[in-house]
Amino acid sequence: MLTGKLVRLRALEPSDAEAIQRWNEDPAVLQWMINDYPESLPQIAKRLGEDRPRNSYDKLILAIETLADRTPIGVIALTDAEPENGRAELDVYVGEAAYRNGGYGTDAIRVICRYGFDQMRLHGISLWVVPENEAARHVYKKLGFVEEGRERERFRRDGKWYDLIVMSMLEGELVDE
Ligand SMILES: CC(C)(COP(=O)(O)OP(=O)(O)OC[C@H]1O[C@@H](n2cnc3c(N)ncnc32)[C@H](O)[C@@H]1OP(=O)(O)O)[C@@H](O)C(=O)NCCC(=O)NCCS
Repeated sequence: MLTGKLVRLRALEPSDAEAIQRWNEDPAVLQWMINDYPESLPQIAKRLGEDRPRNSYDKLILAIETLADRTPIGVIALTDAEPENGRAELDVYVGEAAYRNGGYGTDAIRVICRYGFDQMRLHGISLWVVPENEAARHVYKKLGFVEEGRERERFRRDGKWYDLIVMSMLEGELVDE
């Protein structure tokens, strides 16, 4: 169910800590993500291990790994799901630079959206993206997300303000291959 053409989505493991720390320090990932303050390796491992609550309806955070050789390449999440409204928020990054622009992000988003609609019975999935993040906007549109509005100067990075575009996809709108 959580398997696509190129990737499989699985629970995060403490052994992912090293890769996650590396990804979270990559400027290409950091550029448009709302990131936390720096974390040590033991802090990340603890967060992924003993401190980690089970994945659940309102907090589903998964590793993206390649189907070909099970290499972990990123993280994808559906969070803050509201049962009354059947709505959740999507976050995604392909942290492993060599795998960016290889179709993995598109596949992972398609898999988690399908899971959200078919299994979690969501009615809609929302996300926020910086207008300057052309690659992400392209991927979201290609999959069926629609731009709905813009929050002005909502995101601050390196002393500069950026708008955030809100996008969403309703059930039945996911574009299959
Ligand atoms: C956004 C992201 C998840 C996409 O994953 P990915 O595996 O690199 O994406 P894919 O390879 O599936 O698709 C990339 C698409 O963007 C297109 N693209 C790449 N750079 C582009 C650009 N500058 N402008 C427009 N389109 C671009 C590619 O041509 C490709 O489209 P196509 O398949 O129609 O040819 C990934 O790039 C990433 O993690 N970026 C950093 C973190 C981030 O921005 N996360 C999203 C925050 S909202």
